[in-house]
Amino acid sequence: MDQHSPRNHPKGSLPQSIPLSAVDAQEGSRIPSGIPELDRVLGGGIMKRSAILVGGEPGIGKSTLLLQIAAAAGTKGRILYISGEESAGQVRIRGDRLGITTDRIELCCTGKLEAVTAVLEAVKPMILMVDSVQTLYTDEAGMIPGTINQLKYCSSELITWVKEHDAALFLAAHVTKEGLISGPKTLEHLVDTVLYFEQRHGDRRFLRVTKNRFGSVDEIGIFIMEEQGLKVADPALLFLVRREGTLAPGIATAAVLEGTRALLVEIQALTVPAKSSAMSRVLSDRIDHHRVSRIAATLEKHLGLRLSDQDIYINVAGGIRITEVGVELPLACALYSARTGHPIPGRIAIAGELSLAGEVRPVRGLIRRIKTIQSLGFDQFLGPQLDPLEESSGSHHQTPEAKKDIQGTTVLAVKDIQSAIKSLF
Ligand code: TYD
Ligand code: MG
Repeated sequence: MDQHSPRNHPKGSLPQSIPLSAVDAQEGSRIPSGIPELDRVLGGGIMKRSAILVGGEPGIGKSTLLLQIAAAAGTKGRILYISGEESAGQVRIRGDRLGITTDRIELCCTGKLEAVTAVLEAVKPMILMVDSVQTLYTDEAGMIPGTINQLKYCSSELITWVKEHDAALFLAAHVTKEGLISGPKTLEHLVDTVLYFEQRHGDRRFLRVTKNRFGSVDEIGIFIMEEQGLKVADPALLFLVRREGTLAPGIATAAVLEGTRALLVEIQALTVPAKSSAMSRVLSDRIDHHRVSRIAATLEKHLGLRLSDQDIYINVAGGIRITEVGVELPLACALYSARTGHPIPGRIAIAGELSLAGEVRPVRGLIRRIKTIQSLGFDQFLGPQLDPLEESSGSHHQTPEAKKDIQGTTVLAVKDIQSAIKSLF
């Protein structure tokens, strides 16, 4: 096709601008997915005219999620489910298992783009599901499905269609364990939103948004895969190991903010003399190991705690990956506790960023974190000095340690790692 052909201007008219104030705001409206946990991750529902990529390893629950959305989405329009991998019978069996009874889902088992577009014109769905994008192909882009050319060509055709028809598009994409294969990665630029099912942990499924033109990218949805599909899990109860009495050395409770939600998670640290005298190792797959190395170096420098001759193991109970910066202070406390053998007192939750200079830096949402720890029965919080914007009485001249009472929680506000350690042990 000629690059300059006026495909969006069927009457051959010249492109025209319109006053911003005359734009129909309905164009940007959202469709509730019927799954509030997903709506939160998406930033408030499925944006019309948007394309959403759902990535994850085979068997993690992409097809299940798509079918559940198809059944629950708050639209009167029809939903077209394109299955290139499974037969109609197999999709039906999954639907029965999920207890889906609606008759507004149209199913079409094909991977051929021309067949999909023909059905699209006939059905004119509000939501289009493609499962999976790797099975799409067209003669226009070479015969082999799954090549980058095919992926890009077919996806952009469908993206154009939903944009022109006020619909929304979900594309399921397989991603291998080794990481993001090149295929779906190239699609990230074409779509508006990218959701990834992270590495599984038993029946828990973490759905993280890594790109979102219409919302925040820090949100994480937490589900449990049950007999009847993905169910929303109460995060407060998932990650906290209830313990009686004193904690074992190396355990700290972190109050982290993943997206807009505060979570309490248990950080576990273990240090053992390095197996190789030439090199110590950091083993941590729930918290970025670069972050762990940096915190260990900061402790070594500012507290004189020798860690460079130790192998360090870090785990987060419950299998969730923590990316939020507020995990740094609890991580430092867990490492200190592991190395020295001193347990951290129970019922104290910790949050804060740690600078290379050993300062405890403020983190966002302190009040939200404190409310959460309170609701879970903790009575102390160790963290940075409160942001004057967050509390009314903000004084800039605080001592290295300040004790305050906020809504019944004792807040130990510290300026640096030395005073944090002093107030804990
Ligand atoms: P599926 O959605 O097919 O994964 P994907 O499309 O990402 O490959 O999920 C498959 C797994 O989920 C399979 O092991 C069966 C399990 N499952 C349940 O446990 N409960 C259910 O209700 C469904 C539909 C699937
Ligand atoms: Mg599938």
